Amino acid sequence: MGFQNAETFFGSKSERYEYLQQSMPALLEGESNWLANCANAIALIQSQFQFHWIGFYWVNGDELILGCFQGPVACTRIPKGKGVCGTAWVSGEIQNVPDVHAFPGHIACSPISQSELVIPLKSHEGHVVGVLDIDSAELAAFDDIDLIHVPQLMKVLMNKWAL
Ligand code: SME
Repeated sequence: MGFQNAETFFGSKSERYEYLQQSMPALLEGESNWLANCANAIALIQSQFQFHWIGFYWVNGDELILGCFQGPVACTRIPKGKGVCGTAWVSGEIQNVPDVHAFPGHIACSPISQSELVIPLKSHEGHVVGVLDIDSAELAAFDDIDLIHVPQLMKVLMNKWAL
């Protein structure tokens, strides 16, 4: 397998993402277990960015249910259309929220979160099957660089979607 853990991280945000873009396919190659790949994908991203919280919520009936994540204990269920995650689910659109306190209906799992980026995750048929949620302790933490790279990284993961 071509993946090697980075011994350290350094460099600009773009350089860290370039490392992730190279590493993600190598990390997931050769493993077909969905849970294992999700867990490692989160750990890889977190190895470069130390976000306050990063993890998945998966569509289950009319709710999102917490998947694997790194960070503090989080809400386990989010009703359809609620919060930033539920909005990403029903709209199918990326939600970049610079100030969570200004987002109507934001679900505060942690009082430390100030800004949030949520990427809807789509099946091969184009249905939203879950979301990736990233929370930052800083206001307006996410910019165009994140908006380019995080969805690309999630595409690599969703290519392994087999449910
Ligand atoms: N803040 C999210 C809920 C999930 S936690 O932040 C981990 C929301 O409003 O959907």
